[in-house]
Amino acid sequence: MLLDLQGVEKTYPGADAPVLRGVSLRLAAGDMLALTGESGSGKSTLLHLAGGLDTADAGRVALAGTDLTGLSDAARAGLRRTTVGVIFQQFNLIPSLDVAANIAFQARLAGRHDPDKTAALAARLGLSAHLRKYPEQLSGGQQQRVAIARTLAAAPQLVLADEPTGNLDESTADGVFDLLCDLVAETGAGLVLVTHSTRLAAKLPRRAHLHAGVLT
Ligand SMILES: Nc1ncnc2c1ncn2[C@@H]1O[C@H](COP(=O)(O)OP(=O)(O)O)[C@@H](O)[C@H]1O
Ligand SMILES: [Mg+2]
Repeated sequence: MLLDLQGVEKTYPGADAPVLRGVSLRLAAGDMLALTGESGSGKSTLLHLAGGLDTADAGRVALAGTDLTGLSDAARAGLRRTTVGVIFQQFNLIPSLDVAANIAFQARLAGRHDPDKTAALAARLGLSAHLRKYPEQLSGGQQQRVAIARTLAAAPQLVLADEPTGNLDESTADGVFDLLCDLVAETGAGLVLVTHSTRLAAKLPRRAHLHAGVLT
């Protein structure tokens, strides 16, 4: 199992109520799941726990067969680097690096940099003419395509996308969403994608809704 969450609970320090009250979710390689839920329902929290960016208070999170519970921060970071790719709403590109270097960055960290693969991904994402530009010279849709290329260049087994098209206008969002889903499907990675849009969620084969701390 690529991702296995069992009875995961999370309360932030100082908060009076838990965000997650026993979330269970299993994702196999190739599974593509849309995660919906109201603002503040804990979608980002769940994604962070699934990707080993934060730890649960109770329950079990296993990633690619490794139980994250009890792993040291360093071991968790190592597993995350080689296994998980995260795409954020705000793109989070490195402003001082050009597009080519942004795309190569995560692949280098994962020890998987391959210039041919990077070039092929850039071409698929319509970025070949922009490789020497800097993030600030790109539109939002172009920046998010760079972030997608950067994530996939590292060949993660699990892609976590947190409202990846939330900052884009509707027609740009649709194009970026379809490209992301097509490319993830081609790699055979698993995908958990948070979206506000029931229309976009309907495009994915699996859906889960987070409400009152549990998945429905
Ligand atoms: N680092 C944090 N510290 C304290 N509270 C947080 C933190 N992150 C999120 N929260 C709170 O936890 C709840 C769920 O947040 P979040 O997971 O970001 O929801 P969503 O992504 O569904 O909008 C919210 O009430 C939010 O204010
Ligand atoms: Mg969120």
